[in-house]
Amino acid sequence: MEMLAFYYFLAFFLAFFLLSKRLFPKRKNLPPSGPLSLPIIGHLYLFKKPLHHTLARISSQYGPILLLKFGSRRVLHVSSPSVAEECFTTNDIVFANRPHFLLGKYLGFDNTVLAFASYGQHWRNLRRLTTHEIFSSTRLHMFSKIRTNEVHSLLQRLLGNSSKTVEMKSMFFDLTLNNMMMMITGKRYYGDNVGVLDKAKQFQELVEDMFGAGGASNIEDFFPLLKWVGFNGLEKKMVRLQRKRDQFMQELIEEHRMVRSQSKDEKSLIDVLLSLQEGDPKYYTDEIIIGIIQVLLTAGTNTTVVTMEWAMSLLLNNPEVLKKAQAEIDTIVGQDRLLNESDVAHLPYLHCIINETLRLYPAGPLLVPHESSEECTVGGFTIPRGTMLLVNQWAIQKDPKLWEEPTKFIPERMESTGGVREGYKFMPFGSGRRSCPGEGLAMRVVGLTLGSLIQCFEWERDDEELIDMTEGTGLTLPKAKPLVAKCKPRPAMLSFLSQL
Ligand code: HEM
Ligand SMILES: *[C@@H]1O[C@H](CO)[C@@H](O)[C@H](O)[C@H]1NC(C)=O
Ligand SMILES: *[C@@H]1O[C@H](CO)[C@@H](O)[C@H](O)[C@H]1NC(C)=O
Ligand SMILES: *[C@@H]1O[C@H](CO)[C@@H](O)[C@H](O)[C@H]1NC(C)=O
Ligand SMILES: *[C@@H]1O[C@H](CO)[C@@H](O)[C@H](O)[C@H]1NC(C)=O
Repeated sequence: MEMLAFYYFLAFFLAFFLLSKRLFPKRKNLPPSGPLSLPIIGHLYLFKKPLHHTLARISSQYGPILLLKFGSRRVLHVSSPSVAEECFTTNDIVFANRPHFLLGKYLGFDNTVLAFASYGQHWRNLRRLTTHEIFSSTRLHMFSKIRTNEVHSLLQRLLGNSSKTVEMKSMFFDLTLNNMMMMITGKRYYGDNVGVLDKAKQFQELVEDMFGAGGASNIEDFFPLLKWVGFNGLEKKMVRLQRKRDQFMQELIEEHRMVRSQSKDEKSLIDVLLSLQEGDPKYYTDEIIIGIIQVLLTAGTNTTVVTMEWAMSLLLNNPEVLKKAQAEIDTIVGQDRLLNESDVAHLPYLHCIINETLRLYPAGPLLVPHESSEECTVGGFTIPRGTMLLVNQWAIQKDPKLWEEPTKFIPERMESTGGVREGYKFMPFGSGRRSCPGEGLAMRVVGLTLGSLIQCFEWERDDEELIDMTEGTGLTLPKAKPLVAKCKPRPAMLSFLSQL
């Protein structure tokens, strides 16, 4: 009898012990959670677009390291260089994951696509493949003729419109997209054969439709339960758009499969990838090739376009900077030939202008979201596994504690900082193993384009008023009002321009 009582007692004690562990888990030292978090929606009620503005405001009030809730997602928001450094050095591997979004799945932002692949063997393979076969300096060098041709075609268009008001964004867009399509397909399509550029534009429109259908942040991402209910019938529409997109890509691949370019210098990226496929058809599937084309078109186009548009806008509002850049080019390149890509490396002030533009208008204001794959420590706080990381680079790069007159466009400040990556206060391309692999390509395109525009033309605003620098809403920090400007050829450059 006594024995039985003892067993009852033991069972009761055990049950209590287990239950209390569930009910009262050991309190972890979590980061502060900022403003009031409501049940279910968390902090989502606070958000207005653009998100990086809202988050910057919250962090200036509540601190540089916050653990927020977007619905049921835990989000670590970071807005100080030292905390960012901790995330991308000590904890770089832990944060090398990407969160998965429903919309991402349909955009192809999933495992087959480098930018959104989970951290692991597959991502490493993709990253290695693109580093060697696409972004290596040998390969980039091979494609330099394509970039030169594109820039010359832009100069021609501007010459044909001299002293007229021109809208710059669409010109930059055509240049960038054409450059990308020519790298991918290896053919020159402008002039009388514009088929592929049209196709690429259709692709861009498709992406737009997808964003339109889902909204850039989809409510089902934050309330996973809704996924089961099939709440807003998004899936069907997405699947349809996805099919259209894959068909576009597949057609490009089939075209190349039929006619393979044998010449070594003329090899397009698709040719390169198809050669790899012959060697290892199991790994280099069409799906992988489609994923790579897609990441080039989505991650590489608009980022480059907006950077050039912001840079020209800043130059038009700061004519003394424009004059100084022109003087640098006149001294180093001269006016008896067109500037080329090897000149760009010798134009430090032009680089300062590009960096200062990327400081004020980083095309990835919150970088790309990361996710922790295990528990870790940041700033002395415990960060649970599965937390989404947003590094507010936009806020860091405008922080008055780190930068003098932070909102002013002063390219000279970049001279003194040199390799400004120190301190993590300037990293428009991110940092660590998930940082942007397209930096070299982007800097070449932006450098050559801006340099050529400055060398060949005199620029002025459309009217007396300053260019409106308001940010629009969109994933890659677009300008709210597209830039319009007027230019006329510089007399000394006219003969070179008219020969193009
Ligand atoms: C001025 C232009 C550009 C800017 C400002 C920019 C910025 C960024 C940023 C901030 C990230 C995220 C880093 C992180 O997650 O911490 C990123 C990732 C990425 N970018 Fe860029 N980028 C630019 C141009 C390009 C170009 C031209 C390409 C390709 C053609 C490209 C391809 C990628 C890819 C593939 C990733 C994902 C890497 C990964 O997840 O492993 N980017 N970029
Ligand atoms: C002027 O610009 C427009 C639009 O960008 C372009 O289509 C047209 O070809 C240009 N005109 C000339 C003569 O180059
Ligand atoms: C790029 O920007 C244009 C607007 O200029 C937009 O229509 C398009 O959807 C964007 N594409 C991507 C992939 O974000
Ligand atoms: C650029 O021009 C210089 C001077 O004419 C020349 O030496 C150099 O090879 C050119 N570079 C390219 C990439 O065309
Ligand atoms: C511009 O920024 C890059 C980092 O993105 C850095 O490597 C480079 O040294 C900077 N150049 C200048 C002139 O500030």
